[in-house]
Amino acid sequence: MITAGTSKELERQAAAFIGEAYFELGKTEAEALARIAQIREEIQDTGTYLHTYEELSYGAKLAWRNSNRCIGRLFWQSLEVFDARNVQNEEEASERIWAHMRYATNGGRIRPAITVFPPACTTGANRIRIWNHQLVRYAGYRDETGVIGDSASLAFTEECERLGWKGEGTRFDLLPLVLQFNDRPPQVFRLPEDTVLEIPLTHPDNQSFGELGLKWYAVPFIADMRLDIGGIIYEAAPFNGWYMGTEIGARNLSDVERYNQLPAVAEAFGWSTHSNATLWKDRALVELNVAVLHSYKQHGASIVDHHTASEQFLRFEKQEQSQGRAVTGRWSWLIPPLSPAATNIWHRSFDDTERTPGFRYQQAPYLTSR
Ligand code: ARG
Repeated sequence: MITAGTSKELERQAAAFIGEAYFELGKTEAEALARIAQIREEIQDTGTYLHTYEELSYGAKLAWRNSNRCIGRLFWQSLEVFDARNVQNEEEASERIWAHMRYATNGGRIRPAITVFPPACTTGANRIRIWNHQLVRYAGYRDETGVIGDSASLAFTEECERLGWKGEGTRFDLLPLVLQFNDRPPQVFRLPEDTVLEIPLTHPDNQSFGELGLKWYAVPFIADMRLDIGGIIYEAAPFNGWYMGTEIGARNLSDVERYNQLPAVAEAFGWSTHSNATLWKDRALVELNVAVLHSYKQHGASIVDHHTASEQFLRFEKQEQSQGRAVTGRWSWLIPPLSPAATNIWHRSFDDTERTPGFRYQQAPYLTSR
């Protein structure tokens, strides 16, 4: 059983959350105090407490607003919160995940959403862990020549194979969903076809670029972070936004340790890669990122460029300031990996204090269970 610690500590965290949330929701102090008293009693009786849907929903939004590494927080209030705290088994949980993926993907007009499964400390409830890092992710395989696919997925791909899954062995094999309830053996589900949108990458003015056969998926669904609200820990709470182009073009496809595509892009453009001083890597980065933004747009999939995202972040800060709230952030994550000094964020500094409600890292179950 996982709790915030002692029941006194849980009561303290619950009260802090209710105080903040109820104030922001425009409720009276009397309402907040009554709710805190009720929660206190519930904790004394049961060892834990249940969030109302309104508390869960606002708590999840606050967790997004408090995400110091996220540049896209202007839209925190638009988060759709799906309450899946009543699921009974793996099958039901997978159905809720497919529903979330279809809602979020929305034919390319991506909608931010989160699905919240039963918390870890609800006595008697099913404990659920999602083994995936993201709901959609490409497999990675080691062979004599190196890695085929996404090297970030090597360990998880091995786990999937151990559980009986087998991929085709391409650079872009979709990994299955792996769900675990309590100590039961994890269950493996192939992603239904209509839950995944993929975008083939082409370049607006270079034909050979398209022949590289690159693609990426439309929606980033983070599945392995826990959501902490008022002392309650939701270990399974997958969420999504939409991509900022550089995540794909300046990291996933270009990092040497990931898809390492800069040399191939340079070749498609006919640039020599012999001298660093020609800045072929920088030119390839720019063209790869142009291709990502162009292709997503062309396929009607939501995406934001890093200049626009930086401006949106500035608006988020102004908006928070007007509400009398200070924004926390982590500079090293907020600056984009392409042309960072061309954005306003570069020239700033941030207070990186971690607030709750919030999203936190947790260890992958397949690393703890062995
Ligand atoms: N950087 C991660 C990726 O490239 C996704 C992180 C979340 N990103 C987002 N836009 N919500 O897959």
